Amino acid sequence: MADLRVEYAGMEFKNPVVAASGPLGRTYESLKRSIEAGCGAVTLKSNNVKVKEPGKRRSSHEAPVKPAHVFLSKYGLKQSMINWEGVPTDFTAEDERNLIRKIKPLAKKHGARIIANIHPDPAYVEDLDMFREDIRTLLSAEPDLLETVPCAYHYLDDSPHPEEEGYDLIAKAMTGIYEAIIDESTVPVIIKANHPFFALTSDFIKQLGVKTVHVTEGPHFVGTIVDIEKMKPLCPGPSVYTYGRHRRPVMNLQSARVKDLFGGDEVKLIASSGMWTAEDCIERMMCGAHLTALHTAIQYHGHGLFTKIIDGISEFLDRKGLGLEQVVGAAVADIVSEEAHDKFMDECDLTSDQIWPEIDLDKCNGCGMCANCIHGGISMEADKPKTDLDLCMRCGVCESVCPVEGIQMARA
Ligand SMILES: Cc1cc2nc3c(=O)[nH]c(=O)nc-3n(C[C@H](O)[C@H](O)[C@H](O)COP(=O)(O)O)c2cc1C
Repeated sequence: MADLRVEYAGMEFKNPVVAASGPLGRTYESLKRSIEAGCGAVTLKSNNVKVKEPGKRRSSHEAPVKPAHVFLSKYGLKQSMINWEGVPTDFTAEDERNLIRKIKPLAKKHGARIIANIHPDPAYVEDLDMFREDIRTLLSAEPDLLETVPCAYHYLDDSPHPEEEGYDLIAKAMTGIYEAIIDESTVPVIIKANHPFFALTSDFIKQLGVKTVHVTEGPHFVGTIVDIEKMKPLCPGPSVYTYGRHRRPVMNLQSARVKDLFGGDEVKLIASSGMWTAEDCIERMMCGAHLTALHTAIQYHGHGLFTKIIDGISEFLDRKGLGLEQVVGAAVADIVSEEAHDKFMDECDLTSDQIWPEIDLDKCNGCGMCANCIHGGISMEADKPKTDLDLCMRCGVCESVCPVEGIQMARA
């Protein structure tokens, strides 16, 4: 087993795999399963403000709705989920504190870190004393860290599409919130947001002395799914959030950009969004994350996936003879660099006699995928593919769709 220990927020995590905030951190049973599956840390569900007028909801995102999510396989989207849960008000700071107290002995036994999570509801923004009191309530259970997430939709009259101006508004609304949390917190604070938000607030976050951020995304993954039999959306209304593996490439990029934004190694990243396998987590670490947090994939596959992922990361490191410190951030410089992009494009600037597809017929299984070539560059003859280099555009599609790696773009 490779050494998976990670230093984050000045403390040791036994491995880089974290159970992200949400339903996974809402019940004792789920927290227990994440810890027993071997997670380096578990995160509590965000608490919300106490409702002052019971029965009167202030926004559609605060209702404890049931059901709350649908996986989309039968609607043609594997590894995706549509969620309309929001941050319900039936989970208060007292509830979260009690849950932390209850799970603490087990977390200690397994060496798992506990991350408390507070959602800065607009009611907190208006009543910072209540916010401070609830932070103190959470901290009285002695979590290891405290995460806070400024959800865009709560600050923009329920609009889930904040453009730059919107992020600016959130950033301003957040000033008092962050100052309060830094002031009150006796443990390291994690600020959880997306790249556009961090792009506006990174200087302020640095000034506050925050060294731990969590990169995730909300507003860029709103969408809708229509049940064509019923001719109606699964969740009526302007939009709901889609979670799942489709987020992976977007969030790889956001993670690398946030890593670059903060520069150096002083500010460390947790990243979540779209990871389903050990390979996805390794990739995200290469994009700058010290810790990788998962939610949706665990809802789908169960907590056993955490153990598989931890084992998979270990196997990768052993096979490559690498340590985590060599993996974290390995791809960031190339991802964010315009020069690296230009150099890559120059290297791809080839004439047709400098590059062409070559088929290895010994490997070919005759599936015919390559013969879907839209230019007619490959066709099937007696169950075997044959190139026509006069028609071939050298685009490389055949190489990438071949399931047995039987085609290579050869270079002169
Ligand atoms: C149903 C659901 C509820 C969530 N609730 C919270 C929450 O209360 N607080 C929070 O910070 N993040 C919450 N999240 C976001 C997750 O912590 C995570 O950042 C996000 O789901 C992306 O990771 P994934 O692709 O592995 O699901 C929630 C996610 C889901 C799917």
